[in-house]
Amino acid sequence: MDMADRVVAVTGGASGIGKATVFLLAREGARVIIGDVTEDAGHAVAKDAAGQGLRVEFLKLDLTQAASVEEFAAGANAAAGGRLDGLVNAAGWDRIQPFMENDPAIWERLININLLGAVRLCRGVLPPMIAAGKGKIVNISSDAGRVGSMGETVYSAAKGGIIAFTKSLAREMARSRINVNCVCPGPTDTPLLQAQPERMREALTRAIPFRRVAQPQEIAEAVMFFLGPRTDYVTGQVLSVSGGLTMVD
Ligand SMILES: NC(=O)c1ccc[n+]([C@@H]2O[C@H](COP(=O)([O-])OP(=O)(O)OC[C@H]3O[C@@H](n4cnc5c(N)ncnc54)[C@H](O)[C@@H]3O)[C@@H](O)[C@H]2O)c1
Repeated sequence: MDMADRVVAVTGGASGIGKATVFLLAREGARVIIGDVTEDAGHAVAKDAAGQGLRVEFLKLDLTQAASVEEFAAGANAAAGGRLDGLVNAAGWDRIQPFMENDPAIWERLININLLGAVRLCRGVLPPMIAAGKGKIVNISSDAGRVGSMGETVYSAAKGGIIAFTKSLAREMARSRINVNCVCPGPTDTPLLQAQPERMREALTRAIPFRRVAQPQEIAEAVMFFLGPRTDYVTGQVLSVSGGLTMVD
C-alpha cells in the first residue's frame, strides 16, 4: 500500500472530491484527518470510514477564519505526532453568477475559501515538514483557473491564484524536499456541481471530449498520484483531470 502509515490532512473531506480522496487514501493505508466546516457530514464520513476499518478522524475547520485555520493546523500536526506527511487542500466554494451582478461580499468569500484558506493552512503545517525535510502538498484548483469560466470570474481568479501559489511555494520548498503540486478538476459529479442548473450541466457535458463529467474518485486518483512515492521528483506541476475539456501546455 502506497500510503501505509502516512498521516494526511484533507480539507473539504466531508463531501465530494475531498471525501473520495479521504477514502482512497485511507484504503491505501493512510491515517486521514478531515478538516471541514460541515461538522455533521465530517463526523459521518469518519464514522462510515471507521465502520470499514479505516483510520479517519474529523477536526473542525473554517477556512474563512484565520484563527480556525491556525487551530486546525496545530491540531492536525499534533494528531500526526508532530508532523503531517501530506496536506490536500480540497475545500472549495463557488457561486455561479455574472461578474456584474456580484455583491462584493461574494468576492471576499470566494478568495477567503478558495485561495487564502489554503495559503494560511500551508503556512500552518509547513514548519515541521521543513524541519524534517519532507512532506507533500496537493492543492485542488480548477480548469476555471487555467482557462477562465463564464459566471465564475472571481472563483477563477482564486483558482488561478492557487496555481501560481503552488508553483512559487514549490520553488521555495524544494530545498526542504517538500513537493507542492496542483490538480485541476473539470466538471465533477459532486454536490457543488449538482447545485447548478441542469441546462448548465448539460452544456458542460457536451463541451467535454469524453462526453461525461468526472466522478470524484477520478480526481482523487490524481491527488493520490502526487501524494505517493511515484512522484517524489515532481513538484510545481499542474494536472488537469477533465476528460480533455482543457488541453493546456
Ligand atoms: N465539482 C466540480 O465540478 C469542481 C470542478 C473544479 C474544481 N472543483 C474544486 O474541487 C474542490 C472540491 O469540490 P467539490 O466539488 O468536492 O465540492 P463539495 O461542495 O462537494 O465539497 C466542498 C467541501 O468544502 C467544504 N468547505 C466549504 N467551505 C469551507 C470552509 N469555509 N472551511 C472549510 N471547509 C469548507 C464544504 O463543507 C464541503 O465539504 C473545490 O476546491 C472545488 O473548487 C470542483
